[in-house]
Amino acid sequence: MCGIIGVVALPGRTPYRPSLMVYRGLLRLEYRGYDSAGVAAVAPGRDKLIVLKGKGKIEELEKKLGFSQIDGFTLIGHTRWATHGVPNDINAHPHTDCTGRIAVVHNGIIQNYRELKESLVKKGHVFRSDTDTEVIPHLVEEFYKTSSSLYEAFRRAISVIEGSYAIAMVSTIEPGKIFFAKKDSPLVIGLADGFNLLASDIPAILEYTRRVIIVHDGEIGYITPDTVYIEKLGAGPVAWEKRVRIVDWSLEDATKGGYPHFMIKEILEQPRALQDTFFGLSRDPAVEEAVKLLLEARRIYITAAGTSFHASLYYSLLTSTLAGIPVIPFIASEYKIYANTAGHRDVLIVVSQSGETIDSLMALRAFRERDAKIIAVSNVIDSAIPRESDVAIYTRAGPEIGVAATKTFTTQTLALSWLAISHAEKTGGLTESEAGELRKILEEAPRQAMVSITNTESYAKQLSEWMATKTNTYYLSRGIGVPVAMEGALKLKEIAYIHAESYPAGESKHGPIALVEPEFPVVFTIPNDEELEKLLLGNIKEMKARGAVIIGVAHEKTILSDQLDIWLKTPTTHWILTPITHTPPMQLLAYYTAVKKGYDPDKPRNLAKTVTVE
Ligand code: AGP
Repeated sequence: MCGIIGVVALPGRTPYRPSLMVYRGLLRLEYRGYDSAGVAAVAPGRDKLIVLKGKGKIEELEKKLGFSQIDGFTLIGHTRWATHGVPNDINAHPHTDCTGRIAVVHNGIIQNYRELKESLVKKGHVFRSDTDTEVIPHLVEEFYKTSSSLYEAFRRAISVIEGSYAIAMVSTIEPGKIFFAKKDSPLVIGLADGFNLLASDIPAILEYTRRVIIVHDGEIGYITPDTVYIEKLGAGPVAWEKRVRIVDWSLEDATKGGYPHFMIKEILEQPRALQDTFFGLSRDPAVEEAVKLLLEARRIYITAAGTSFHASLYYSLLTSTLAGIPVIPFIASEYKIYANTAGHRDVLIVVSQSGETIDSLMALRAFRERDAKIIAVSNVIDSAIPRESDVAIYTRAGPEIGVAATKTFTTQTLALSWLAISHAEKTGGLTESEAGELRKILEEAPRQAMVSITNTESYAKQLSEWMATKTNTYYLSRGIGVPVAMEGALKLKEIAYIHAESYPAGESKHGPIALVEPEFPVVFTIPNDEELEKLLLGNIKEMKARGAVIIGVAHEKTILSDQLDIWLKTPTTHWILTPITHTPPMQLLAYYTAVKKGYDPDKPRNLAKTVTVE
């Protein structure tokens, strides 16, 4: 949902030209939105702003406009995912005021921009774009007329805007500063020697520094090459020094490392991500704290969006299976209906890899208002959702850059399985030794993921040739396999643009089977559970009878082997590892199908990695 980067430097103190740093940062942020991009810089004479922007991908714009060649030591850049105003050259950020002295980039939505724009127009301001963002530079320009400093004007502007935002602003009025403000959209400050940075996420600046400050909601301030000023809007300066974190992600984590796409790199690094997550979970006191909350809960809800919702659904099935306790799963954007029923003895688990998805954050806040306790499961330390929760459990997948979630799904299911087992152990659903056994099985997750990937990659690649010719598919399973099938379908839809519907297989005869005709692909997720396998036999047969091609994602000893037209063989292991063994083959199938069709799997159309607008 848009990416922001800023660099403010002393001459001769940066590893590259500052504009090249901004350009490289934009490339790293492109996964957040990629319909247009732009850069604003205070020119070296400090009396002029240079603004280059346009519609298109960053690399194409670089060739046309030369972002990386701009002279200057105070720069901001933006890569856009359009909300207000179609993607075109004019609506691209940065936006400027009437005098051309103030430039702003913004991620989020200004909800009251219409009223603000109307009143600014009445005062003589001339707007060029259709964006909500453009009100900000005009507001600052207007307030500056009656303020003692540009910062005061900026603060006054931020006080009147409503909505969600991460904002960066540069100006010729105070040339060596980048002003910023944050509410509900992510923003981090990077500290270096002789220069400082600002960005929507850590990977964008990891090449230059590991020392970061996560900006909190309601904070505004500015950075210069060697100072940082942060204040809580309306409550004065913040002692940020205690909040400096040293990030342990490596630069390798944030780059393609020789792979053609981030997505394939991230699929293949699942064993490592699972290993790190397992290691973290086995030492994390947060799990115990979360279990304490769950044991006191009257009702347990779990919410998320997209892939994280599939992991949540898996958790709800697992907890009812292991602990015999019902969990209410709901899609985060539907939170109002569910929050209406929540109270002070309830617990909400919010699952979000980014920790910033606005639907999930709104659900959290609605439950919090009703005094429910909140447990977060996230991949990004200190992001909004864990910060606003009572307990935060972290996956340790490292940065995920591909828009399609891969390693964060399998690590989420690992973390949630750990939580479900620990909970069931305390409720008596599992004995201590049964829980211990299951934990040992979870410890095998990295190895089993590796075997699954190794066994299926070349088959998935071959199969993609045929899949690429299809327009419709079903992804079916039963029981614990259903969320995994749903995740497989989402991958194919979002990156290969093939319609993929997923539902519990027993539903076929209630309608969907009407669509099936010869050569229709049906992908069955077949967990290693004899009872489920027997149930699936009937579902496979009814599809086969209509000429469907049956693709089975199934373990090596499945009783259904003779029913499968194509078999993506996963290792034979406990069914609790179904998401870990069965998802990678479907990720690989989606990836190779997208590549076969000539699409960029890292940047699927109409999507952005983190959705920070409702
Ligand atoms: C899945 O491939 C997508 N990236 C999307 O569904 C994603 O899982 C969803 O937007 C939730 O994101 P979050 O986990 O960061 O909250």
